[in-house]
Parts: sequence; structure tokens; C-alpha cells
Amino acid sequence: MITNGDVSKCFLLIFLQVTNALIDNESCEKDKCHSEEKDMTSQALVLYDESLVSPFHKTSRTFSFAGKELVIKQEWKTLGIAAVVWDAAIVLCEYLEKNVELVNGKKVIELGAGSGIVGIVAALLGGKVTITDLDVALEYINEVVEENLRDKPGLDVQVKGLDWTKDWSKFSADYDIVLGADIIYIEELFDDLLKTFLQICHENTVVVLSWRYRYDRDNQYLDLMRKHFTLKKIFYDSSRDVKIYLGKLIQKNKVDVK
Ligand SMILES: C[S@@+](CC[C@H](N)C(=O)[O-])C[C@H]1O[C@@H](n2cnc3c(N)ncnc32)[C@H](O)[C@@H]1O
Repeated sequence: MITNGDVSKCFLLIFLQVTNALIDNESCEKDKCHSEEKDMTSQALVLYDESLVSPFHKTSRTFSFAGKELVIKQEWKTLGIAAVVWDAAIVLCEYLEKNVELVNGKKVIELGAGSGIVGIVAALLGGKVTITDLDVALEYINEVVEENLRDKPGLDVQVKGLDWTKDWSKFSADYDIVLGADIIYIEELFDDLLKTFLQICHENTVVVLSWRYRYDRDNQYLDLMRKHFTLKKIFYDSSRDVKIYLGKLIQKNKVDVK
């Protein structure tokens, strides 16, 4: 029932395209999400209420990290999973903010950066940061970086294409820290992702992974990674169900990357 209170709070009645539960479960796979979204589109008359809009469908989200307000635009409809901020990224930004020494003065690379917010925060905290993702996401990431860091010209941030399936050999083991938020989710990519880690890490590189467990196969990836890296759970955000793992290569010279 629509009450007077609702009406005074929300001046606008609109038709909303209601998509599959507004993709609010964060548990979709790339292609599956897109197809379900198409299939399940329907129309309903609802009061416009910003709080009911899924975080992914917002055109931008505002965060405060490292003493700066960050406005991250989102392009779910056009770019999908790469162009929204996932909970794992938020938890990792909060973790870095509390553990600045992880990135301050360090050479940092972020894999599967999506919106780039983690890399942006790492740069604000003093890291020399390379933000990477698939080529298709780079224009969007560059825009987000430009919009949020244009008033900080002194920061050391680059945006580069790094597709784990084909670009890993173009990067060398030249980083102190490797960051990854919510990048363990496509089984077919597990070997390539591992290869990428093996390529860009040296014995002292610290890998910081933040992820939400969704499927059993995610654990398989951790097992795979444990063959080469020490991986220790160091943080759990129960409200967002996101864990952070820290890892280091066990022995670089025993690894044969092909
Ligand atoms: C679930 S999103 C996470 C994005 C961001 N890290 C966050 O937490 O908000 C997964 C990211 O992995 C990237 N990705 C998927 N396949 C990739 C590949 N083969 N090489 C590099 N990045 C890839 C996607 O483009 C996307 O940005």
C-alpha cells in the first residue's frame, strides 16, 4: 500500500525496468548474468526510492578513502562486471587504508581492477600503481582515474591492459605488491590467472587477494595457488562476507611458467 509518507518522500512515480532481482546477489557469472537479465526483464509500477536500487545499477557511487571523496561511475549496462564496484574491492580499500605500509612507497600492480578503485586508493596511500584489466575496460578505468585523481597530479598511476590469457608474459616480476579483488570466479581462467601471478611475483612480492566465496571451485583455485604460494587468511569482513588472503611465492626458481 502506498502511504502519504511514501508519497511525500518520493515525488516521482516512474516505470522501472525491473531486472532479475536487480542483480543484488553478486553471485552471477559474466555471461549468465547478461542472459538472465534479458530473459527476465518485466515492468512494474513502483515508487522511485534510491535505497531500493541495486548498488550495481547506480550510475555512480561515492566513497571516502585516504581522506578523499571518490565518485566512481558505474556502467553495468554497457560494460557489465568490470564497470561496477564489488564488495571485495570496498573491503580491500578499507584494509589498505588501515595497513598503509602495504602500499606506501611500494611498486603495486592490481589485476582485474574493474572500476580501478583499489588501485586509486593504493595510489592515494603512496603506492606507485599499475592498474590492469582487459583492454575493453581500459577507457572506462582511465576515465574513473582521471575524474578522481585529476587534482592529484603528483601521484604515480598507470592504466594498462593485462589479459591473463595472453598478456602475462609481457609483464615481469617487478612488483612489491599484487592486489586482486574478486578476481577468482571463472574456472576456465584459473590456470591463466595462476600463470600471471607466477610471472609478476618475485620471492618478496606480497599478494593481497580479497574475495567472496561463491562456489566450491573458488576453493580449488586457492588449492592451486597454494602449490606455489603461502596463502594465509588475514581478515574477514562478516557484514560483506569477504575474506582477505596474503601470500608469497614459495620458491621462484622452482616455478616453470609456460
Ligand atoms: C568481479 S570483477 C571485479 C572487479 C574489481 N576488482 C572489483 O572488485 O570491483 C572481475 C574483473 O576481472 C576482470 N577479468 C575477467 N577476465 C579477465 C582476464 N582474462 N584478464 C584480466 N582481467 C579479467 C574483469 O574485466 C573484471 O574487471
